[in-house]
Amino acid sequence: MNENGNNREQWGSRVGFILACLGSAVGLGNIWRFSTTAGENGGGAFLVVYLLIVLLIGIPVVMAEFTIGRKAQSDAVGAFQKLAPGKPWFIAGFMGVASSFIILSFYAVVAGWVMKYFFGYITGALVNVPENDFTGYFVNFIGKPVEPVLWQFIFMAMTIGIVVVGVQKGIEASNKFLMPMLGILLVVLAIYSLTLGGAKEGLTFLFSPDWSKLSDPQLYLEALGQAFFSLSLGMGALITYGGYLKQENKLPTAALSVGVLDTFVAVLAGILIFPAVFAFGLDPAGGAGLVFMTLPNVFDQMAFGGLVGAAFFFLLFAAALSSSVSLLEVAVAYFMRKFDWNRKKAVLIIGSIIFVLGIPSSISQGAVPITVMDRDFLTFMDELSGNILLPLGGLFIALFMGWGVKKADALRDSDFGNTVIGHLWFWSVRVLAPVAILLIFLNKIGIIG
Ligand code: PHE
Repeated sequence: MNENGNNREQWGSRVGFILACLGSAVGLGNIWRFSTTAGENGGGAFLVVYLLIVLLIGIPVVMAEFTIGRKAQSDAVGAFQKLAPGKPWFIAGFMGVASSFIILSFYAVVAGWVMKYFFGYITGALVNVPENDFTGYFVNFIGKPVEPVLWQFIFMAMTIGIVVVGVQKGIEASNKFLMPMLGILLVVLAIYSLTLGGAKEGLTFLFSPDWSKLSDPQLYLEALGQAFFSLSLGMGALITYGGYLKQENKLPTAALSVGVLDTFVAVLAGILIFPAVFAFGLDPAGGAGLVFMTLPNVFDQMAFGGLVGAAFFFLLFAAALSSSVSLLEVAVAYFMRKFDWNRKKAVLIIGSIIFVLGIPSSISQGAVPITVMDRDFLTFMDELSGNILLPLGGLFIALFMGWGVKKADALRDSDFGNTVIGHLWFWSVRVLAPVAILLIFLNKIGIIG
């Protein structure tokens, strides 16, 4: 029995919890997905909309997930069943568990590419690419049928290895030392990238909005999806992590730190990537391979570039791992409770299923042309989960907090109490966030606007 009067695992400390949430939030989303999405949606205008969404919708929904999780001390589905028995809110939890399968399936594929690049720098293969054709190198690699699947397998095995150890000794411990390292390296690399020839164009692209882009409904949907993806929001990952938190640990500053730091890392990644994109004459709208094709150019120009490349891809790998761990934990926590499986059994079974689910994403990159709705399978899974399932899940979570529980309870359980900021938060989850999410959806489908 622990201090919350149940037998569940718990975080060792509040800082450990915040770092684990930050570990979940900071990942491929901030660096790989952010640069791709910002690049394809015009840069600056996208960034403005993105920042507004993080502030007005993202952080309030982070608070909602934390509040639900800590109060219920359960998993994504169980939390809703506990707090609102007999009501249909738990369906949001099911969607979340489904999203965790979908996201982790392709996430592990991209993380596998990251591992390949890390070893490429260790062995020198990426230092000696003929004619510095890094684009060709990347396209050739992801188009292979077997090798990327092997890397994906290794990555899944490592994710499984951490989650199997448990919340405190596995998830918390790994995050505690990886997160600070990632931060330092990003700052150093961003500064270096600014010294390259493309700094001016890159920064203009990222920070001077072309307002005409704001007329494109797709931009809002992409910014919303990216915000949810990056903040690990809308699928109960933060409900699940909040469920391991002691009641006395305060929530609002934790939510704010996670939201602000995650966004900071994304912007920093933009400052690192876009100057390099322009310096090497690449297309910012280059798609999913942007990071893998631009950054090797940067490292190639640097003294000790091989070493820095290895360090960068190692840390990107670490960031991906701390996120994938949270994706797996959402499903694992649910199956452990629901079917009374022990941790080991749940982790092995679910981890294996997700690995198999990811294979089509991997081979759709060139080996076997698997497309859905004109997108390769990986991009389809990415957009389905990020742009649709997560915002929809977030919509339900906000509605639950704003309408499914009493206002006084929401204010008390969130630690806001009867404060101005508490009331602002409550109105955000009650009205602002749901309306904004709905409008963005409707706008995209073409019903309005
Ligand atoms: N936030 C993670 C990233 O940016 C991805 C993620 C999404 C993790 C949803 C958990 C839940 O890489």
